Amino acid sequence: MENPRNLVIVIFGASGDLTSRKLMPAIFSLNSQKMMPEKFAILGVGRTKMTNEDFREKMSNSIVSFSEEKVTDKNLISNFVKDLYYHSMDNVPESGYSGMKSCLQEIDNNYGVGGNYIFYMATPPSMYEVIAVNLAKAGLCKQDNGFRRVIIEKPFGYDLESGRKLNRTLHELITEDQIFRIDHYLGKETVQNLLVTRFANGMFEPLWNRNYIHRVEITSAESIGVEERGGYYDSSGALRDMVQNHLLQMVGLTAMEPPSSLDADAIRNEVLKVFQSLQPIKEEDVPKQVIRGQYTGSLIRGECVTGYRYEKGVSVTSRTETYVAMKFYINNWRWGGVPFYIRTGKRLPTRVTEIVVHFKQTPHHLFQREAGKLSANQLIIRIQPDEGMLLKFDMKEPGAGFNVKNVNMDFHYKDLANIRIPSAYERLIHDVMIGDSTLFSRDDEVETAWKFLDPIQRAWATNPAIKVFGYPAGTWGPEHANDLIEGDDLTWRYPCKNLADEELYCEL
Ligand code: BG6
Repeated sequence: MENPRNLVIVIFGASGDLTSRKLMPAIFSLNSQKMMPEKFAILGVGRTKMTNEDFREKMSNSIVSFSEEKVTDKNLISNFVKDLYYHSMDNVPESGYSGMKSCLQEIDNNYGVGGNYIFYMATPPSMYEVIAVNLAKAGLCKQDNGFRRVIIEKPFGYDLESGRKLNRTLHELITEDQIFRIDHYLGKETVQNLLVTRFANGMFEPLWNRNYIHRVEITSAESIGVEERGGYYDSSGALRDMVQNHLLQMVGLTAMEPPSSLDADAIRNEVLKVFQSLQPIKEEDVPKQVIRGQYTGSLIRGECVTGYRYEKGVSVTSRTETYVAMKFYINNWRWGGVPFYIRTGKRLPTRVTEIVVHFKQTPHHLFQREAGKLSANQLIIRIQPDEGMLLKFDMKEPGAGFNVKNVNMDFHYKDLANIRIPSAYERLIHDVMIGDSTLFSRDDEVETAWKFLDPIQRAWATNPAIKVFGYPAGTWGPEHANDLIEGDDLTWRYPCKNLADEELYCEL
């Protein structure tokens, strides 16, 4: 594995939640695995007033609280946090950046990192543009000595127009290969494993098309509500928060053609082609193809759960969706006529992300008399939790006659090796350090995804007759989502925490 060059990571939004919960534990873990450069420092930038010591203490606590593995070695933490620095400033006025630059240069001189800087924007999205402009004005984006890379969190824009504008502004300041747009789903091992499953095995490819696949279903369910993020979420909603990025990227990797190589652009070109082939949903078809919902208060396992409208930071008249289910088509030779169903929601019964490939029924039901209606084969690719794959197919029940039983063949990722699965942020931060942009969204991908979703956002914003269905927290969302699925008696899969269980036999 390539070793990153010595560098400084500057984190804007260093006093925020993302830094504490995800970024610092991830960098700490990379350091513990000796995957950080020989010399590195982290400069946190934020509005909150803090000394270096305060910042180090806060981050030590975050590492203890939020690391995926329990961290017991205090020396390991204190050794790590000694390379953390903090600079307090308001991101908006240009004048603040000269102080930040001096601080950065001093660290650079002390550590000898040769001008290699990564700027991580872990701020509210409204700050991305102004920070980039100010960094450029301070001369911090030029790569005369050392590399300069910018990591941008999602959401990248609010719609097509704002996404385009942000791209345009960034391109005036830096080149596309300096920009790393984070979609943390692409950092998940099991999402990357989709490429291996599809393209390292000869047996899937011949079946992976309209001739054998009846429909594809992708679910990303969460059991938590909006927690402390009501303010952000109420202006975003599930379509922008989850569909525009995570779900569409999973669609891209499931539906793409084999890339010519593993080069960043070879893979991203194929994902882009899928996005370009999405059959546009007309505004008038939105009610037929897209169902939105919002969770209402309920009792889950004896505990009262607040409805969305009563969450902190949310308007009591909010029509923001906490659930979306949609049906669409991909207009190309591989997928023409195959419906794709995707859904995501908060406060659903369990946390699960999976891709279900439903194969077509056999053309002739030889065992119909004995077995009744046969179930079609399903391949389930489980992204999280209980990561793995499940194949559902029919077998003869032992004994007289031809009784047919649907059985499971399951593979659990954890059985593959005794290696821990790195967090998505570890993988992605490491990739930025070595300059590999394969797992980051490119400008054209982001814009094409917005282009597909814009008519839905417009229809929702302008047509109050399009319903927002309430669903009790802890249920699978509005029942109307089942009406999207074409075919008698067909429904979504109702998955459980454990890969091989579903519906009634569930561990939630
Ligand atoms: C984030 C969304 O991108 O993904 C959150 O903003 C969501 O609302 C989260 O909770 C889900 O990520 P994961 O990795 O827990 O599936």
